[in-house]
Amino acid sequence: MTSLNGDVAWDDFNPREYVRRNYLFRHPDDEEILSLVRDHFSDHFRKSSGRVGSGIDVGAGPNLYPALALLPWCDRITLLERSLPNVRYLREQRDSYGDIWDKFWDVLCKEEAYRALGADPRVRFREAVDVRKGDIFDLGRRAERWDLGTMFFVAESITESLDQFRLGVAAFMTALKPGAPFAAAFMENSKGYYVDGRQFPATGIGKEDVRSALKGYSDDVCIRRLGTPDDLREGYTGMIVAYGRRDG
Ligand SMILES: C[S@@+](CC[C@H](N)C(=O)[O-])C[C@H]1O[C@@H](n2cnc3c(N)ncnc32)[C@H](O)[C@@H]1O
Repeated sequence: MTSLNGDVAWDDFNPREYVRRNYLFRHPDDEEILSLVRDHFSDHFRKSSGRVGSGIDVGAGPNLYPALALLPWCDRITLLERSLPNVRYLREQRDSYGDIWDKFWDVLCKEEAYRALGADPRVRFREAVDVRKGDIFDLGRRAERWDLGTMFFVAESITESLDQFRLGVAAFMTALKPGAPFAAAFMENSKGYYVDGRQFPATGIGKEDVRSALKGYSDDVCIRRLGTPDDLREGYTGMIVAYGRRDG
């Protein structure tokens, strides 16, 4: 039977185990994604006013690096997350995040706008970040819209349904104001994943599924696949990153 988002016990997600498995070390694919996102936002804001009011990271989970990528560009950052243990983890980290996130900040600091925040961006992070317990599928139904957005490993990694993957991408894009720059990352052909012995669902998607889900929301989008056949890992075949601007 296809597992839908509402069927899953998201409050059983163990944030510390997820971080230990995925972010204790800096994986080359994460580094490449982060570099692409850093350059995309830096190019966008170099050409425009340089700063906006609000950013959002959707399905933030216990990953701080998308929020770090948003940090120089907006006054307030919403971290939207459904799972209570992940919400608690994010609230603890907001006050003074752990050293393990510094290696991701180092990648971002290759651009001047990030370096300009100083040696320790923790103060700015604490001031900017607002952690909210919420549901991606409610985003489009609310009036609130954001100027800048990220969504990493969420729409395809919260359901086994391709339709629900598409609804997730649509909800993310609907939450953005016209012209808003965005970046989203996806696992390619994921079969699902385990965190601390608990199984979580995924939809096996590829580049064309991402392009098709974004159609009508952003035609000005760059979609890149990362990972080589030699770099075989269990449960998925690569990563996909999409970045661009929400259609006006
Ligand atoms: C694979 S994790 C990705 C976490 C993080 N963005 C990252 O880059 O590692 C998927 C996340 O989506 C969250 N999630 C699941 N269903 C959700 C929903 N309906 N709305 C918002 N977040 C949800 C999960 O709790 C989990 O934190």
